Amino acid sequence: MTVNIGLLGFGTVASGIPFLLQENGEKIVAASRSDLEITKVLVKDDEEKNRLLAAGNDYNFVTDVNEILNDSEIDIVVELMGRIEPARTFITSALEAGKHVVSANKDLIATHGKELIALAQDKGVAFYYEAAVAGGIPILRTLANSLTSDKVTRILGVLNGTSNFMMTKMVDEGWTYDAALKTAQELGYAESDPTNDVEGIDAAYKAVILSQFGFGMTLDFAAVSHKGITTITPDDVAVAQELGYVIKLVGDVREVESGISAEVAPTFLPKGHPLASVNGVMNAVFVESIGIGESMYYGPGAGQKPTATSVAADIVRIARRINDKNVGKPFNEFARETKLANPADVFAKYYFAIDVPDKKGQILRLAEIFNAQNISFEQVLQQKANGEVARVVIITHELSQTQLEDVTADLNAVADFTVVNTFKVLGD
Ligand SMILES: NC(=O)c1ccc[n+]([C@@H]2O[C@H](COP(=O)([O-])OP(=O)(O)OC[C@H]3O[C@@H](n4cnc5c(N)ncnc54)[C@H](OP(=O)(O)O)[C@@H]3O)[C@@H](O)[C@H]2O)c1
Repeated sequence: MTVNIGLLGFGTVASGIPFLLQENGEKIVAASRSDLEITKVLVKDDEEKNRLLAAGNDYNFVTDVNEILNDSEIDIVVELMGRIEPARTFITSALEAGKHVVSANKDLIATHGKELIALAQDKGVAFYYEAAVAGGIPILRTLANSLTSDKVTRILGVLNGTSNFMMTKMVDEGWTYDAALKTAQELGYAESDPTNDVEGIDAAYKAVILSQFGFGMTLDFAAVSHKGITTITPDDVAVAQELGYVIKLVGDVREVESGISAEVAPTFLPKGHPLASVNGVMNAVFVESIGIGESMYYGPGAGQKPTATSVAADIVRIARRINDKNVGKPFNEFARETKLANPADVFAKYYFAIDVPDKKGQILRLAEIFNAQNISFEQVLQQKANGEVARVVIITHELSQTQLEDVTADLNAVADFTVVNTFKVLGD
């Protein structure tokens, strides 16, 4: 039997699929129990089609998506164009036409996944997207299959390679944010508009998807608070190091008594934490669960071959199920009522960097403000004054998100105090 595939887009990831089909054909065919054939590839225009043909790509390139959507011979549509539109419209039409769909499009799945998953279920077809979270790390299938008997309590992740590359340069080599961004762009890790990577948006998309697989809850993207790396200063990096921490952009999804909390934010990780040594463009997902305990899944979060490997694994799984005549099961069967955590229930330690006048009695003033919100200090560091201003760094004991908001408002209300930065601190 042959399973026919229509590719939408032939960019970085899509053009890695033929490599795997050629180099690992025997194993893929055995696992799929079918031959896999890419019968049509959608590209934008004739110019692109001619360019790809001239470069030796021997595919049936088409420029009208309907040639794929209306082709009854095509079983699986693989969307690798990225962005929301027209990917959303094309995937919807493919599912409506009864085709199975594979995608790596985290932006789309985090914001419109619910409706696409429901449509796939309605039509009895498969919609798989392993590559959408952490590219080459097979984390979604691991959560859905291998951890099915376990109860996940928290997922922490270094989920964005671009920002992690930048943070590694800032931490290990003392680079400024601007220098790190410039190099990331020169190396092709960051796009000319790096907003999604550096503001934590891309990692927040992944947190939405991880919360479905880890906790069975589908969060709206807006329910994931995200703060990026743009405000981290060399001073923050130096203080973190002095106190035994490494700063990284960390996605954090956890279940507390009242529900689920998800956020992406720069986080102080103790140097001994496994995530602290995830450097450069690598990604890792650290799972805390009641059965296994702690486990970490580490690997390349992006790149042509790693990402295409995850995409191809989805294709193989679908082909096999077509052959076994049990295709159409949801990628993730764990679903329960979504309950958002009460911020008063979500606790963490925090780092505060506060500029105060370089006069006597400032630590006492700060202590009174924190004390009024029932917050105590774990560590306090006063840095050498710069002119009239001294920087006080505080690591608190655990406080709730509500306390954090309240104490920040109280500090901001003091005219001669400036809260420079506030970051979460992970315990040992
Ligand atoms: N790259 C990675 O390492 C990685 C990792 C994980 C997930 N992903 C996801 O994988 C997907 C593909 O990423 P990629 O890096 O391969 O992107 P890419 O290199 O930009 O490739 C996308 C291709 O699709 C084409 N395209 C866009 N709109 C189209 C349309 N309407 N019709 C036909 N072709 C169209 C683009 O053409 P133009 O260039 O002319 O626009 C481009 O050739 C994205 O959803 C991305 O988020 C990528």
